[in-house]
Amino acid sequence: MLRDKDIRPVQGKLGVMIVGLGAVTTTLIAGVEAMKKGYSEAIGSVSQMSTIRLGKRTENRNPLIKDFVPIAKIEDIEFMAWDIFEEDAYEAAIRAGVLEKELLNKLEPELRKLKPTKAVFSSDYVKKLHGTHVKQAANKFEYALMLMDDMKRFKAEKNLDRLVMAWAASTEIYMEHHPVHETLESLEEAMRNNHPSISPSMIYAYAALSLGIPFINGAPNHTLELPALRKLSIMNKVPVGGKDFKTGQTLMKTIIAPGLKARMLGLSGWFSTNILGNRDGEVLDDPESFKTKEVSKLSVLESILQQDMYPQLYGDIFHKVRINYYPPRGDNKESWDNIDIFGWLGYPMQIKINFLCRDSILAAPVLLDLIIFMDLAKRCEMYGVQEWLSFFFKSPMTAPNLQAENDLFIQQTKLKNTLRYMMKEDLITHLGLEYYDEM
Ligand SMILES: NC(=O)c1ccc[n+]([C@@H]2O[C@H](COP(=O)([O-])OP(=O)(O)OC[C@H]3O[C@@H](n4cnc5c(N)ncnc54)[C@H](O)[C@@H]3O)[C@@H](O)[C@H]2O)c1
Repeated sequence: MLRDKDIRPVQGKLGVMIVGLGAVTTTLIAGVEAMKKGYSEAIGSVSQMSTIRLGKRTENRNPLIKDFVPIAKIEDIEFMAWDIFEEDAYEAAIRAGVLEKELLNKLEPELRKLKPTKAVFSSDYVKKLHGTHVKQAANKFEYALMLMDDMKRFKAEKNLDRLVMAWAASTEIYMEHHPVHETLESLEEAMRNNHPSISPSMIYAYAALSLGIPFINGAPNHTLELPALRKLSIMNKVPVGGKDFKTGQTLMKTIIAPGLKARMLGLSGWFSTNILGNRDGEVLDDPESFKTKEVSKLSVLESILQQDMYPQLYGDIFHKVRINYYPPRGDNKESWDNIDIFGWLGYPMQIKINFLCRDSILAAPVLLDLIIFMDLAKRCEMYGVQEWLSFFFKSPMTAPNLQAENDLFIQQTKLKNTLRYMMKEDLITHLGLEYYDEM
């Protein structure tokens, strides 16, 4: 890993390639274009708005992260996207219904320019969608080659210095590990033979990693877990990260559960239900796509509460997650959580949360930060799974057999300490005894 002066400097433009031109992607792109024009600040973005403390508290050194680490500037970002529908970014944003027409109209010329490239897609993996804007090839390996051509063309046409790719397309059906996922040879052979255990997200990731391009998995799909893709990321020295953007209800879970545990309060049940009416909600209405999401959402509590270490407090939790497709609500999801907790002498208490969130408004800055930090990781020659970015994911990936860290505040410390480490600053332990040495 390169540090400080040796980090490859940011020069030229950063090309961002996103799979799926839906609600999250159009909200990000419109936001970035709005920021380039000075209409708004990057609210919700850690890379743009957060400061980082350096040295002792008495030193008062608190620069913005964007002034401390050499990250790409918003003005230097260029987008492209693949989608199974032909709508340009303006039409797609209007249909997604997240942002108001008044803002989108001001950005119309920029958004109209972004027309999606034909996608690699099969409704075997997303049952509710039937796209028309899709590539045709004899086998899955050929699809990967076509995607690589798209990436090379984008880089050359826009004169880009670097590329990053993210999956913000629909959630695929639940996929299990299959022996063909094991090695690069077996994966490539399975792609040539159109093996059903190879989903489109695996083809996109394979194509990106083959060209040394960082890949972010924003959905709960089984993709970067493939041993073959992990090996490819190490072999080609590419940073990767996943999975599933941490927004909405799960964000709340990772804020509240660590607090309950810190105070040694018990938990007997957590019931979470949602209504949402966007296309993501429609896709998740299919039980096979929902299962992929459910597994991602359920794993959070187990890993925060460490049931094995605290059987009296967390040994017997009833955890249920429901997602209900309800079209009138569009992207403006509403979620309800009922949390049954217990305290001193086992006395029960309840917490109710009613979060009226806007999914894509929460997801867009997360995607922006991931793109920016993944590009930084690549310039620092960091590769493989980037656990320091687990702050942004619902189901953070780790090295094999390593338990994920889901507590948002530990994740934040890990993120900031990694940035300090890159820049050869002292890591912060929060011990703080030195302030009292002279007393
Ligand atoms: N919005 C959030 O807060 C949030 C949080 C976590 C994860 N996610 C995940 O991010 C993804 C995007 O969410 P969204 O709300 O933008 O959904 P969306 O349905 O609005 O957009 C997804 C887009 O992907 C396209 N698509 C599907 N398969 C494709 C393929 N193989 N290639 C190219 N395009 C394809 C669809 O046509 C659609 O336009 C979903 O998987 C969702 O579960 C979203």
